Amino acid sequence: MIERSLVIIKPDGVERGLVGEIIKRFENVGLKIVGIKMMWIDKRFAEQHYSAHKTKPFFKELVGFITEGPVVAFVVEGVHAVDNVRRLVGHTSPHEAAPGTIRGDFAHISMAYASKKGLGGKNVIHASGSKKEAEEEIKLWFKKDEMHSYTTVHEKHVF
Ligand code: RTP
Ligand code: MG
Repeated sequence: MIERSLVIIKPDGVERGLVGEIIKRFENVGLKIVGIKMMWIDKRFAEQHYSAHKTKPFFKELVGFITEGPVVAFVVEGVHAVDNVRRLVGHTSPHEAAPGTIRGDFAHISMAYASKKGLGGKNVIHASGSKKEAEEEIKLWFKKDEMHSYTTVHEKHVF
């Protein structure tokens, strides 16, 4: 039941100075950060990360958006981490995302608006959508020696 999930604070989140605010939310619930770095990914890497969306009408805009500035990528570990991270992140479209979620608290646009404007759906953050996606994404973004095992106090009181 202990899983790992990949989280990426997208260029809009980094440029808006939301890195600390966002990381705090994962630490607050006791999810353990086991790897973290800033990267400015290129088009090729972005196309690989979002390869599942390559036939979607918003693919080009999405790749443009995710490569327009640096991102902060990190891996969190915890009980049902994949589902729990998605709950903290909220609905893909900030317009649908509940208040209290990261997308609901820090953005409000809809994907319909993004599509109409030809923009890449600025929604602050990415989170792996399934256990399989998490495994593939972590392999793509992090080398084995960039991930660390250690014990947190949460393992006594939360896990
Ligand atoms: P992510 O992969 O970034 O965590 O987002 P997600 O699972 O909630 O949503 P997904 O369907 O995987 O979409 C990936 C990203 O593409 C952008 N998007 N734009 N213009 C549009 O209609 C549209 N739809 C999706 C968003 O940035 C979304 O997070
Ligand atoms: Mg996704």
